[in-house]
Amino acid sequence: MTPFLLLFVALATASPVKRQTSGLDADGDGLVSQDELMNAMTLQQALTALDSDGDGFIYLPQIIELWGVGDKFYELNTDGDNHLNFTEIENGMTLMDFYNQFDFNGDGTLDQAEAYQLHYIYDVINMVTPVEVLDDNGDGLLSNLEVQSHMTYNEILTALDVDESHRLDFAELSVLLGSQTQDFINAQDDNNDGVVSFGEAHHHHANLDTLFDRLDLDNSGYIEDAESAGINAVWAAVQALPVDPADVNNV
Ligand SMILES: *[C@@H]1O[C@H](CO)[C@@H](O)[C@H](O)[C@H]1NC(C)=O
Repeated sequence: MTPFLLLFVALATASPVKRQTSGLDADGDGLVSQDELMNAMTLQQALTALDSDGDGFIYLPQIIELWGVGDKFYELNTDGDNHLNFTEIENGMTLMDFYNQFDFNGDGTLDQAEAYQLHYIYDVINMVTPVEVLDDNGDGLLSNLEVQSHMTYNEILTALDVDESHRLDFAELSVLLGSQTQDFINAQDDNNDGVVSFGEAHHHHANLDTLFDRLDLDNSGYIEDAESAGINAVWAAVQALPVDPADVNNV
């Protein structure tokens, strides 16, 4: 093949539909339907996948990372403690209720951004990704070094940009940033169009260090427990990225 053709092969390999490796989208139409979810998992399996530290609890920051707001946490939290156990969740919602929480635009199906966390959950259940865990030394905490040694800021931006627009909207950003999403948008959205372009995402000295500090909600110096839900989902997506996205610097 000529170098010219090879370039086209490389570009084709980098097409957006290749990004989601998840088999959750069984018919491959780019959307996740209610039936596809029902066929793929139970609510119990989804909760077990989300409970990355295995303590049997789901915390408020995780609920916010899933659904942008914490309403469901307060609704389901019958005893008013700082976590939900699986029983509290299963008593308060079905798998279909769980699905509907992701349907932010209420059109009855889930597009790529809406289904981001569900693809991650599917992959965890089926042990597709992450093939490599972020927590290298297994101490249950993510250090800045552990995060930086696995992914770059540009890879994170690319992994979040599921519609390949080079602009990150609220739904795309909230996968990683949870309760910090609006704050991040306020800090980075220079032209006030409501989204953060890749260019804007590099302004104001934003990088993986500042992102780490933002995710470290309790300023412990580590990302731990519920704080790590977003970065684990993004890490799974980073591993599924088809090409080295170093070229986002040129956007
Ligand atoms: C879950 O939490 C509820 C409310 O506090 C409690 O009654 C129940 O025993 C807990 N279930 C488990 C399995 O821990």
